[in-house]
Amino acid sequence: MADHSQFISKTPAILPDKGSISCTSPSNIALVKYWGKQPIQLPENPSISFTLENCKTETTLQYEKLENIAEDFQFELYFEGTLKPEFKPKIKSFFERIALYVPFLKYYKFIIKTSNTFPHSSGIASSASGMSALAFCLMQLEWQLNQGITTKEFLQKTSFLSRLGSGSASRSVEGPMTVWGIHKDIEGSNDAYAVKFPYDIHPNFTNYQDTILLVDKGEKQVSSSVGHDLMHGHPFSSERFKQANKNITKLKNILISGDLDAFIEVVESEALTLHAMMMTSLPYFILMKPNTLSIINKIWEYRKVTGSKVCFTLDAGANVHMLYPHSEKDAVTGFIESELVVFCEKGQYICDKIGLGAKLL
Ligand code: PMV
Repeated sequence: MADHSQFISKTPAILPDKGSISCTSPSNIALVKYWGKQPIQLPENPSISFTLENCKTETTLQYEKLENIAEDFQFELYFEGTLKPEFKPKIKSFFERIALYVPFLKYYKFIIKTSNTFPHSSGIASSASGMSALAFCLMQLEWQLNQGITTKEFLQKTSFLSRLGSGSASRSVEGPMTVWGIHKDIEGSNDAYAVKFPYDIHPNFTNYQDTILLVDKGEKQVSSSVGHDLMHGHPFSSERFKQANKNITKLKNILISGDLDAFIEVVESEALTLHAMMMTSLPYFILMKPNTLSIINKIWEYRKVTGSKVCFTLDAGANVHMLYPHSEKDAVTGFIESELVVFCEKGQYICDKIGLGAKLL
């Protein structure tokens, strides 16, 4: 088993009595997908993502020192201004997982106030932004207790804690691109935390756009944790994990060279492979909707006719992420407005772009 003892902090003799920390952390969109894991939240294959800018969670962590160390975690959770006891079990299990690394948790009562900049039921998973925002707040508190910690250690541990909340959350802490999971061609890569893509990215990807077409805003019928589990004993899993490793090497070279046609091929193939894994697991399931396929066909047609470099990717859901260079912003927005909004629930879409990760507010 991997040794993560470097992340165990010591509880200092003097703890601050009370205070409040606010931060924001974004969602991210994987280009090479993570699908399949080992306990606890260790990926079967490395993944790489664009950090987003606008789709994010804002979290305020109020802390007050208890008279005596608590037997259980003491906290309340507000989501968009309303007390949400039903969200507590998820946070409690997150605290249980990270308690070894953040021993001061039981010395405090916390009030966590959180809200998202994207619509609540938009089909956009809030676990990546939500868990990384909470981890970032906790690490700010830890930093107050132990100012000897370096920026590198701070970012690594924030990603490490985020990962224990939700695997993909590990990739939200930094930007514009991060890699999570060990890979021979990515220096410093690690299964325990994500690292910033450690090479110069070609200017073709500067300010890259992500417009998210909201095809289905409902709850997912199959959670990602169930989906990850179905990769155990999946007939194609070992080939899939090998393919993801190869795609990381390809994408590394593409990000350095700026080859947009090669980018399109890797990214779209990854999206379809993710959904192919869902369709070929037992039980099998389909998260795409008819409108997802209509949009994909329209994008292919548009690319053929115009020579555009727009491409799509998918998360574990029906929504379509359209990725394209900043130089095509006006043209692609026109295309969306004239041909794609009809496939979106209530004509809704979110304009986002590549971003830089979590920050203090
Ligand atoms: O972090 P989780 O357990 O919600 O899994 C995320 C899985 C995908 O979004 C489908 C792919 C990825 O790498 O983000």
